[in-house]
Amino acid sequence: MHASSSLAPPETITLTINGQARQMAVQPWVTLLDALREHLDLTGTKKGCDHGQCGACTVLVDGKRINSCLTLAVMRDGAEITTIEGLAGEDGALHPVQAAFVEHDAFQCGYCTPGQICSIVGMMNEGHARTDEDIRELMSGNLCRCGAYPNIMDAIRQTLRERGEKPASEKNATPIPAYHLAE
Ligand code: FES
Ligand code: FES
Repeated sequence: MHASSSLAPPETITLTINGQARQMAVQPWVTLLDALREHLDLTGTKKGCDHGQCGACTVLVDGKRINSCLTLAVMRDGAEITTIEGLAGEDGALHPVQAAFVEHDAFQCGYCTPGQICSIVGMMNEGHARTDEDIRELMSGNLCRCGAYPNIMDAIRQTLRERGEKPASEKNATPIPAYHLAE
């Protein structure tokens, strides 16, 4: 059999990306990450490990954070997707988490940053971040090779304060666990 005859035909799906309906034809094995980057040129979402280990590819699907490298685009037909490109307001004002990252210098190379920010927004939607330990646990899927964790924590605390949620105490903050820096 000729190789091309065994290929499944592309499927037409519609994703609402950052408030805009986008229709595309994708092969059934294309990940959401590749659909965003390769089909829609939304390269703000980063590919790190491509197998669920680093969090660089985190986006929001119907308000929940997911690793876009671990889901197929066809499985998300009809979903609302928010990427880092869609977090700022219509007037261009940065999302509060983005503004806090700038204020606290919470990135170095910036490669992990879109995933970190989308994950923080998703974490806040979940509403379980009450202490530094909670935050570390809930953000443990997002790695930063540059070790910007202390500044990322500061940015998260500030955003929680601005939302009127009980912030984790900076004074009582415990050091970032070494395993975060080693991975
Ligand atoms: Fe998806 Fe690393 S690229 S978790
Ligand atoms: Fe470089 Fe996080 S800022 S990997």
